[in-house]
Amino acid sequence: MSPVVGRGGGKLILLGEHAVVHGHMAVAVGVSLGTEVRLHPTDGPTELLQDHPDPRLQEALSRVLPPWGFRVEIRSDLPEGRGMGSSAALAVALVRARAALEGEVLSFAAIHERAFPVERLFHGNPSGLDHAVAALGGALSYRRGEAPVPREMPPVSAVVLDTGRAGNTAEIVAAVAARRPAVDSHLTRLGVLAEEMAERLGDTQALGEALNEAHALLGEIGVSDDELDDLVELARANGSVGAKLSGAGRGGVVLALVPDGPDPLLQAAAARGISAFSCTVPDK
Ligand code: PMV
Repeated sequence: MSPVVGRGGGKLILLGEHAVVHGHMAVAVGVSLGTEVRLHPTDGPTELLQDHPDPRLQEALSRVLPPWGFRVEIRSDLPEGRGMGSSAALAVALVRARAALEGEVLSFAAIHERAFPVERLFHGNPSGLDHAVAALGGALSYRRGEAPVPREMPPVSAVVLDTGRAGNTAEIVAAVAARRPAVDSHLTRLGVLAEEMAERLGDTQALGEALNEAHALLGEIGVSDDELDDLVELARANGSVGAKLSGAGRGGVVLALVPDGPDPLLQAAAARGISAFSCTVPDK
């Protein structure tokens, strides 16, 4: 029998990470990378097909799937823990696979409600931005406690530069919160940049400038580091109109907009042994 399949997409935050935790707006885009959950019927308890070292994964399965009857295959091309929404993509994929089993087509609100507790297993206090994008794709703005708003954005060529290090989102979010109120004006400005650009995502030059300003602000609130700053510099020196860390920071990835094409930056990254790939944003 063919497996039942559910999918959730990855994301990149254009503007507003950390600010969104404190009630400001963020803008994020879906990427073509994602996570697929395949349920293979079996005559036994529901369990993972492949070994996985993270015990939270088994817990996530038991929250969403029936206790009996499936071998669960997880396929993902999203790097884990790099701010690209891998745990939200998994949560949404699980919820969708379960719905497909029942022949249910879920609204966004239903996906959000069911995926949120799963995402909490991995993230403690998520703003909800990640699984809004995992469920909806495209470009959207998001403010905590409100429905995500789809936004117009013509696809732009981008390069993702990967530090290869996973940041601990819960720890970094807590470190920023501990620096309030000293960083409140920075968080406000990050939110204002998101609000301004949400209305004009087609202006790639202005978006690039906003990304550059956001990276500086993220550095000032203490979530960038030397390696991320170095990757941003590399991007700007090789054709990027704007680059910033994307996600929680202190590791993870840099997103660089390269409207004239990714090749110079990909070549410069390869020459330095930096892991990088090109995509378009939004890409779904
Ligand atoms: O999990 P990450 O690295 O994609 O970070 C999410 C963005 C934050 O604003 C830092 C946290 C959140 O829950 O929105």
